[in-house]
Amino acid sequence: MKKLFLFASFIIMTMGADAQNVEQRVEDALGKMTLHEKIQVLHAQSKFTSAGVPRLGIRQLNMDDGPHGVREELEWNTWSPAHWTNDSVVAFPSLTCLAATWNRDLSRRYGHALSEEFAFRGKDVILGPGVNIARTPLNGRAFEYMGEDPLLAGEMVSPYIQAAQQNGVACCMKHYVLNDQETDRFGVNVNVSERALREIYLEPFRRAVDKAHVWSIMGSYNLYNGEHCCHNDILINRILKQEWQWDGALVSDWGGTTSTMQAALNGLDIEMGTYTDGKEREAAFGYNDYFLADKFETLIKEGKIPMSVLDDKVRRVLRLIYRTAMNPQKIIGSQCSEAHYEVCREIGEEGIVLLKNGPLPVDFSKYKKILVVGENGTRSLTEGGGSSELKTLKDVSPLEALRNQLSMPSSIDYAQGYYSGKPMYSKQEKLDSAKQARLHEEAVEKAKDADLIIYVGGLNKNHGQDCENGDRESYDLPFGQNELIADLAAVTSSPKRGEKKGTLIVVTFGGNAYAIPWLDTVDALVHCWYLGSESGNALVNVLTGKVNPSGKLPVTFAKRYEDYPYVKFGERAYPGIKGQVYYDEGIFVGYRGFDKNKTKVLFPFGYGLSYTTFDLKNVIVEVASLVEETLNMKQDAVEVTVNVTNTGSVAGKEVAQVYVASPNSKKKDMPVKELKAFAKTRLLQPGESETLTMTIPLDDLRYWNEQTHQWQLDKGKYTFHVGVSSTDLRTTASLNIE
Ligand code: BGC
Repeated sequence: MKKLFLFASFIIMTMGADAQNVEQRVEDALGKMTLHEKIQVLHAQSKFTSAGVPRLGIRQLNMDDGPHGVREELEWNTWSPAHWTNDSVVAFPSLTCLAATWNRDLSRRYGHALSEEFAFRGKDVILGPGVNIARTPLNGRAFEYMGEDPLLAGEMVSPYIQAAQQNGVACCMKHYVLNDQETDRFGVNVNVSERALREIYLEPFRRAVDKAHVWSIMGSYNLYNGEHCCHNDILINRILKQEWQWDGALVSDWGGTTSTMQAALNGLDIEMGTYTDGKEREAAFGYNDYFLADKFETLIKEGKIPMSVLDDKVRRVLRLIYRTAMNPQKIIGSQCSEAHYEVCREIGEEGIVLLKNGPLPVDFSKYKKILVVGENGTRSLTEGGGSSELKTLKDVSPLEALRNQLSMPSSIDYAQGYYSGKPMYSKQEKLDSAKQARLHEEAVEKAKDADLIIYVGGLNKNHGQDCENGDRESYDLPFGQNELIADLAAVTSSPKRGEKKGTLIVVTFGGNAYAIPWLDTVDALVHCWYLGSESGNALVNVLTGKVNPSGKLPVTFAKRYEDYPYVKFGERAYPGIKGQVYYDEGIFVGYRGFDKNKTKVLFPFGYGLSYTTFDLKNVIVEVASLVEETLNMKQDAVEVTVNVTNTGSVAGKEVAQVYVASPNSKKKDMPVKELKAFAKTRLLQPGESETLTMTIPLDDLRYWNEQTHQWQLDKGKYTFHVGVSSTDLRTTASLNIE
């Protein structure tokens, strides 16, 4: 049966503003600008702004980090805080948490609320969101990204971008591309197959360019093909601008520009954050010393670089200015509104993943002595982490939320259990082992007296954990937490405690997977990513059952670090040798790799428990036809329909995940299956059903052929498995594609 329906994705392209009008304004301005004025708009004039053209009344661009809230205001020329008293903001959950919701509507609401905060602070460009791929669980910035799968990342990032840009605030999607580790981030050259580059690493960017028409993109520090990615001919000129026809502005990462000739010719449009003499002399700043400043002007004057190269960059920058700073429909925005906190809390609640259950939801009235153990029970997790650090007005900790929400707050005791020191950007505080032992002992002692222990730990935003400019030191939880949890578990299960076995619920925060040697000894495990300002409230609502968890993992939790697909290739595959890293595992990243190697994992990609149960039935797969409205092009697609029923006793949401096996999936260079579509139900009451319809354009079933350097669609039988994780596939249908 053939059906017609519209592809909604293009509609928001120009935020309703007249694109033609923008182009006219761009051409008009370009025609009036002097050579020097053209050069001036191509580089920073302060830490976070680039110049406009004051003579023509063209405004500067105000940028700011991103991606989870508006960064604290910094001084004009330094990295020091400006000490404003009105720049405390809402911290939204980390992007990994957003990805874990698998809920596109929450992504849209995230982008909308965040852009209101940016607009209020007078910003035009959000430095984010990030979609680098979780290739290694050690990546220090994984919390700022959207997991291991390119389709999930690309789909979940697009509504955020669309909603922000609809408000006249641009996103600057980052870090383009292959910035998948922080170790040696400024100098590592990534060697990756053409196919893995296309199918895995570029794919979330391509989707966002195609679906959300993102207005700016940040180049990454690392190199590809021997060229820094802020000015890389293949990645920027050939793929992004020519092949994908992207009309936005490419912004360098801060200090990521290294050559005038390459910056000029290889696609960079705005140079930011360059240390002015390329070394330490940042204090004696000189923005005219930038690679795209005086030196570039001279080359143009001497005719060594054609004017058309300059004009193309200026057009892109002007377009960005007219789409944002000078967009008559740009919103005024608001800061710390109730609506923003609500979005923040809801995303947190839906992103939390229940990994193991027994005692949840908790009936707190059953317990007389409740003990919260762990530093993350009280620590602000919006501090640290690098450029995404936020100054918040409100930051509700788990302990605070428990004490606020439970009727008998006095029954809740607290023990820190371990300590981790202050968050620092490039080194760690030296920890005192005697203090650590004391905290450990104290917690275990208190545990002996408690009948419910809620352990709140995991990672934090210290250097060597979830923090920019360095990777995690180990796949294990840090600061002696494995030993502490094991000791707490021993207390709760000890027969000496008398008639009743205590209950131990473990809650972890963190941007990535970690080893869980104590899993069998604890009663429940809840993983929270980072939840932002409403952290404790979101968590407590899940613990009490006010909210039924529906988050699903955007990354695989392997049993052992050695199981990750790249590890067997040794140091050359991570973190690299002598400035070269080789992605030897190719396209077999995340579940694609675990599938191929037949490795059993602890928690698969897409996994997450609920307080209810769901049945997925009656999958139907048909060919349909898509019409892309603006291009008036028709494309064949596959439509997958599945019926989801809540078969348990409480209301809940479920995510249907479609994994497709291609006709050649048994061949060794093909994935066993790949996520090609997903949809989340509305809140289903017990017994209630919803029919979900998902569309897969045939183009999404293609793979990259390295012989022809083209996408290729194989003919034959495709199998569509619909399930609730990458290993829990419930219903299957197949279709011949000729
Ligand atoms: C980070 C970017 C960030 C920029 C500005 C860089 O070090 O890699 O993600 O946007 O700094 O703070």
